[in-house]
Amino acid sequence: MPKKKIKEIFIGSNNKGKLKEIADLLPKTLKIYSNLDFKIPSPKETGATFDENSLLKAKYFSKKTNKICMSDDSGIEIDILNKAPGIYSADWSGKKRNFNLAIKKVYKEISKKDKNWKKRRLSARFVCVLTIFWPNGQFVSKIGKIEGRISNLKKGKNGFGYDPIFIPKGKRLTFGEMNPNEKYRIDHRSNAFKKIKKFF
Ligand code: IMP
Repeated sequence: MPKKKIKEIFIGSNNKGKLKEIADLLPKTLKIYSNLDFKIPSPKETGATFDENSLLKAKYFSKKTNKICMSDDSGIEIDILNKAPGIYSADWSGKKRNFNLAIKKVYKEISKKDKNWKKRRLSARFVCVLTIFWPNGQFVSKIGKIEGRISNLKKGKNGFGYDPIFIPKGKRLTFGEMNPNEKYRIDHRSNAFKKIKKFF
C-alpha cells in the first residue's frame, strides 16, 4: 500500500448526506474534492455485496478523476426481512431518493412478516464498506457495523436515509434524533474509517 500520507482525495458519492458524513470524518487539513464540483454520474452498482459495490465505485471515480478516491457502500440490514434492504437500501427510496417512501416500505414489509411487530424489538444493523482507491490500482477496503433495532415511529430530523427509524444498541434515541457528533462516535461509517485513518 502507498506509504505516502494522503493529502487530497475525491469523495466518490452523489449522496449529499453521505458526502457530508464522510467529509466530517476526514482530517480538516485534507483537500477534499467531490461531485459538488465535478458532477460525475454514479456508476451502476452491479455488485452482489457491500464490498464489491464499494470497490466498484472507488475504482470508477478514481479512473474518471485520476485522483485518489474514497467511496462508501452502505445500507441497513433488518433481520426479520432476511437482511433486506441491505445493498438495495438506496433503491427502496425510488428514483427520487425519497426516504419517507423507503421507510413506509420498511414498515409495510415488516407488517407482512409480523402484524404485532410494534410490540417486539426488531434487530437491525447499519453496514458500511469504505474503499480508498489509488490511481496506480492499489486499494484498501474496510467494513464497519453498528447493531441496533427498528423504531416503531419515525423520529428526528438529523442525518439522512434510514436514520429516523434506527435506534443503536444501548441507546433510546434514533440516529435522526441524535446530534451528528453523537452519531459519528459510534456509527458504521466511523467504525470503518477508524480502520483506514492511518492513510491520512
Ligand atoms: P449506497 O451506498 O449509495 O448504495 O446507498 C446506501 C443507502 O443506505 C443510503 O442511501 C441510505 O439510505 C442508507 N444508509 C447508509 N448509511 C446510512 C446512515 O448512516 N444513515 C441512514 N441511512 C444510511
